[in-house]
Amino acid sequence: MSHAQSLVCKECGARYPLEPRTVCDIDFGPVEVAYDYDAMRGHVTRQSIEAGPRSLWRYRDLLPIDGRPRAGLKSGWTPLVKADRLAAELGIRELYIKDDSANYPTFSYKDRVVAVALTKAAEFGFDTVGCASTGNLAHSVAAHAAAAGMRAFVVVPHDLEEGKMVGMTVFGPRVVRVRGNYDDVNRLCSQIADKYNWAIVNVNLRPYYTEGAKTHGFEIAEQLGWRLPKHTVVPVAGGTILPKVAKAYHELITLGLVEDNQPRFHGAQAAGCNPVVDAICKGEDIFHPQKPKTIAKSIAIGNPADGYYVIQTVRKSGGTGMSATDDEIIAAIKLLARMEGIFTEPAGGTTLACAIKLIQSGAIPRDESLCVCITGNGLKTLEVMQGQFAQSPVIEARLADFDRIVQEATEPAAANHVKGNSSCQTA
Ligand SMILES: Cc1ncc(COP(=O)(O)O)c(C=O)c1O
Repeated sequence: MSHAQSLVCKECGARYPLEPRTVCDIDFGPVEVAYDYDAMRGHVTRQSIEAGPRSLWRYRDLLPIDGRPRAGLKSGWTPLVKADRLAAELGIRELYIKDDSANYPTFSYKDRVVAVALTKAAEFGFDTVGCASTGNLAHSVAAHAAAAGMRAFVVVPHDLEEGKMVGMTVFGPRVVRVRGNYDDVNRLCSQIADKYNWAIVNVNLRPYYTEGAKTHGFEIAEQLGWRLPKHTVVPVAGGTILPKVAKAYHELITLGLVEDNQPRFHGAQAAGCNPVVDAICKGEDIFHPQKPKTIAKSIAIGNPADGYYVIQTVRKSGGTGMSATDDEIIAAIKLLARMEGIFTEPAGGTTLACAIKLIQSGAIPRDESLCVCITGNGLKTLEVMQGQFAQSPVIEARLADFDRIVQEATEPAAANHVKGNSSCQTA
């Protein structure tokens, strides 16, 4: 049995049994899983975790799962890269990339939340699963459902990148495209969850789904040798991952598994869809919904379900927010690829571009440790990079022709730097 005790309303503290549920009946506040940390202490140790599988399931005792994992058996345990070349380029002492572009099976952080949500869906006895998605979640639900033998309906905005459409359709779910943006899709999915008795992972299974995102944070700490980075820069879309990485760090502190270094969290959004960063920078508690207009489609959520909690988490930690323009996002994608050999999608480009601007502004001091969360893979969004590079030369198969190219080859042009140094920049 897990150490999860109940669902608890994040607003009024009302408690509910561990059941499919999104909000509190009293005040409609979101509910999340509460644990018995006293019972965990001494039982959940560094050794017990290290003895677990090389997947996110090594943290099973910190997740709301009663039985065996039913999905995502190989998900998680992605590389934490010590990015020394990029650190030197940016003039920062200690830089890490948590690389979920290598996640299994669908190359984004969503494989974590889906592994937990589909395991819980099977525990609850659902036979059909679904989601409202900007692309990566649908990709992941489709793949995990196929492997688990579950029926899947995935609902997405009509204008997703071709790579993502093919990537999800190949697994055989019912893909439904909605004329509208993610917020329209999400509204429809709430109605679907009410009408059909299906597990819509980010609606009626949301409290369990979001817990899966903690594993991104657990891994950062364990892979750093049971230590926390001082700064963590996290992308924000619906607002799941940032507060859950913070929850992960604080659970490890509560259980005495890491030292409390008062970690700071910084939210990253695209300038074309930055309701949360905008509110953080203006010192407001409530964000104003926006209509997204950015190449970073996977994080283009204008009315984020957990945006309020991102603002609270960031502010409480002493962190801040930053946004990046589409040009800065592309420049950061190229920089990460050239410095560290990691090809991320625009969500990752956004996160790195914002991290660079936070370093330049002084919000992240150059002598403090920093982890940048890269949550998606560039091979799924090739269209955004089309036209970004000069055509490669075509030659006859003659050594002399090749020699000419070697002669012409100059040092690679200086990386396209991300500019900007305002301490809390929203566009
Ligand atoms: C690649 C990628 N990164 C980050 C996010 C951030 O999601 P959230 O804030 O909802 O956890 C998403 C959401 O879809 C995503 O696809």
